[in-house]
Amino acid sequence: MSKNIESHLSEDREFKPSKEFSKQARVSSMAQYKRMHKESVERPDLFWAREARELHWDKKWGKVLEWKAPYAKWFVGGRTNVCVNCVDRHVTEGRGNKAAIIWEGEPGDKRTLTYKQLQREVCRFANVLESNGVKSKDRVLIYMPMVVEATVAMLACARIGAVHSIVFGGFSAESIKDRLDDSEAKVVITADGGWRRGGVVDLKANIDEALKKDKSVEKVIVLKRTENKVKMTKGRDVWWHEETAKVAATHKAKSFDSEHPLFILYTSGSTGKPKGILHTTGGYMVNTYATCKYIFDMKDDDVYWCTADVGWITGHSYITYGPMLNGVTQVMYEGAPNYPDFSRFWQIVEEYSVTIFYTAPTAIRAFIKAGDELVDKHDLSSLRLLGTVGEPINPEAWMWYYNKIGGGRCPIVDTWWQTETGAIMISPLPGCTPIKPGTATQPFFGIDAAILDEEGNECKANEGGRLVIRKPWPGMLRTIYKDKKRYRDTYWSDYPGMYTAGDGARRDRKGNFWIVGRLDDVLNVSGHRLGTAEVESALVSHDAVAEAAVVGRPHEIKGQAVCAFVTLKSGIEGTDELLKEVRNHVGKVIGAIAKPDDVYFTPVLPKTRSGKIMRRLLKELVATGKVTGNTTTLEDANVVKSLQKQVAKK
Ligand code: WT7
Repeated sequence: MSKNIESHLSEDREFKPSKEFSKQARVSSMAQYKRMHKESVERPDLFWAREARELHWDKKWGKVLEWKAPYAKWFVGGRTNVCVNCVDRHVTEGRGNKAAIIWEGEPGDKRTLTYKQLQREVCRFANVLESNGVKSKDRVLIYMPMVVEATVAMLACARIGAVHSIVFGGFSAESIKDRLDDSEAKVVITADGGWRRGGVVDLKANIDEALKKDKSVEKVIVLKRTENKVKMTKGRDVWWHEETAKVAATHKAKSFDSEHPLFILYTSGSTGKPKGILHTTGGYMVNTYATCKYIFDMKDDDVYWCTADVGWITGHSYITYGPMLNGVTQVMYEGAPNYPDFSRFWQIVEEYSVTIFYTAPTAIRAFIKAGDELVDKHDLSSLRLLGTVGEPINPEAWMWYYNKIGGGRCPIVDTWWQTETGAIMISPLPGCTPIKPGTATQPFFGIDAAILDEEGNECKANEGGRLVIRKPWPGMLRTIYKDKKRYRDTYWSDYPGMYTAGDGARRDRKGNFWIVGRLDDVLNVSGHRLGTAEVESALVSHDAVAEAAVVGRPHEIKGQAVCAFVTLKSGIEGTDELLKEVRNHVGKVIGAIAKPDDVYFTPVLPKTRSGKIMRRLLKELVATGKVTGNTTTLEDANVVKSLQKQVAKK
């Protein structure tokens, strides 16, 4: 962490957008940004109402904001339909024949859907959901590959007021089960499989496993994608293609209250149980719309590509909702970035003349490692704007992205935000903000971000502290599903009336925010959030494991790697075989992304005399191979020595 801060402090490279870019952008100078930002923070009602009026409302709102901390209502009393705004509006306004989604499957199959065609698909599927008993506010669990139908399913839910809850396709049956228990979904939408690195991910089998003891799910709708053999349970499972064949391609959408729930997305926190982040209709819609417009500079002739999966918030806000609200043409790709090799992304950029490209630092680092030849083969001159998200980007990766992918001509928007914030919070505006490798720069309109010390005072320039948001914003989470107390405790209890992000950061003299990373027990592995407590509880659920402590260590590609210290039950020997088994067990319980990179068996864990595991010490140990901090509170000082030897052997 300290190394990071040092490198950031000495970062003096700065890049400005070209005159041509600035001229065509919506915000062209820092003076204009500052003026607009000031107004938007002082008078959020004016700024956000202006943005909201660009979308379709069946009934106009009364007050823009009602704020009784920590509960916000945006566009109070307004009624709208997000799906109509994403789809039908473009058909009515003459963009019906414009490509909405250009999709490419991993095996190379292709499909393009215009907004008009998308409207038919969405209407059909809305009818299917209704004919299968889904009503407004019912929860629908979506567990799908990156296919057009995933977006169709989301939009169809929004159209009928049902609340989708997507579970990333890489998560295990047990993870699905936990989320089902909490959301009590009535219907599940899945597929017979999805393609990943040449193989088929058996999604349906995971759903079957997760549903073994479930009581809430009445129907499972299964998309045929791979011809993978699946077991269909009579009376419960139906085929997507058979259901859609039975219904009309038109559907009359109703309007919903601005605070109608739109979706729940589970994310990791500092306890073992994922939190169901609840987002609602009007505010989320306006916020994702506006951030796409200003930050991604979306224009009518752009071809936009966000490489995320719809299973994460990035896929919600910056594949399904934001871009569709802007009526842009976007590319969607099913598979892995390295299939058949690491040139796949660049081949896609070239083939579809992608103009705006949004990806994660972990992917960029993997591309660097794979070698420049894979990039050099391709013509990337269509690109005009690049984005990153998910974790702090190291300056080397930033420079490579800027020069090698962007040809030195594309601004990079390093976008800081979270599942909870719903939309981008801190980011350059590409037409005006001077950019530097490693900083997400300045807060977006309406965002009052600050860095505070423990007492709640604002930190001085370049002093590290906690990142907070001092005022509500439209896309903010409204609560943790079924857990108001956890909502208050997690986000609103550090400083009265302010949102704590859980990230450490500092601000330089020019007001740029440099995000350092999580302050809580949450890891960021390849841009994915993972609770150490979650991994620990997965580990101890293995028969041989007595106790476990999990920490992150810096990793060249993934950002952070998962390190597990494990004590075994008495009489059990820590063989290599068991080590493998324990790793795979975590993969089975949570999903492949959670598999520990390193597992250390140890007879005891370093604990304080009161019995608390000293994770701080383990963290230092795996990062540096040494322990320099205070160990006098340790119950058994010899533990450290023996662990040090083990780590050194790796
Ligand atoms: C955490 C949120 C937002 C979509 C992807 C992750 C880290 C996110 C950045 C960035 C530095 C970043 C933070 C944050 N993070 N973007 N541009 N620079 N750190 O969403 O899973 O909710 O994770 O990701 O630590 O708290 P998420």
